[in-house]
Amino acid sequence: MKLVLPSAEYKNSFIEAVKEFKADQINSTRYKTYRALSIVELEKDFESYVEFKRGRAKDEKLPPGRVPATDFWLVDGNEFIGRISIRHRLTPELLASHGHIGYDIRPSKRGQGYGNKILELALPKAKELGINRVLITCDATNVASRKIIEKNGGVLENQVPNPETGVDKLRFWIDLGT
Ligand SMILES: CC(C)(COP(=O)(O)OP(=O)(O)OC[C@H]1O[C@@H](n2cnc3c(N)ncnc32)[C@H](O)[C@@H]1OP(=O)(O)O)[C@@H](O)C(=O)NCCC(=O)NCCS
Repeated sequence: MKLVLPSAEYKNSFIEAVKEFKADQINSTRYKTYRALSIVELEKDFESYVEFKRGRAKDEKLPPGRVPATDFWLVDGNEFIGRISIRHRLTPELLASHGHIGYDIRPSKRGQGYGNKILELALPKAKELGINRVLITCDATNVASRKIIEKNGGVLENQVPNPETGVDKLRFWIDLGT
């Protein structure tokens, strides 16, 4: 099991995962990025998607107001398991709400420890990107995510309202040392 940069090697498995995310009723308001993807387009030109994802890590390819973010994919053998995104720096909005890191595990692979693993493997990557203190947030109702963050050293700073969803956010910091 390892983190890799987005790669065409995982095309088939990634597309299967996107179908799972699209079909996930429980989290129907989440996964904007997955829902926006067209299976037909991915099948036709996966290389462009990979290139787009990799490009988001570079300053010169970003729309105004976006900070660079490196996406890693958690893979097990040749199977895509989940995605973790590390934003290289915080904007006032990210500081208030979304933090440095976001992740998801594909629905068919949950409850098997992959969530804990994806964050554990990503923290050294965040450090390599120059982040010494990582802000991670989750919905106050997201029990699994809270456990993942705390298991990986997250210290709760506060609980703040999130008018977008009506569900409070928990804001945690993980100290990666200097
Ligand atoms: C949150 C998410 C990443 C968890 O992934 P996962 O692979 O199921 O997590 P794990 O199997 O590593 O489980 C992590 C912990 O949560 C617990 N857990 C898992 N699912 C749970 C659930 N539905 N309710 C309560 N606890 C749960 C596990 O027992 C484990 O606890 P432990 O370490 O004390 O044993 C996954 O559900 C997901 O992708 N959700 C949608 C996106 C999301 O919420 N991302 C987080 C954004 S902050």
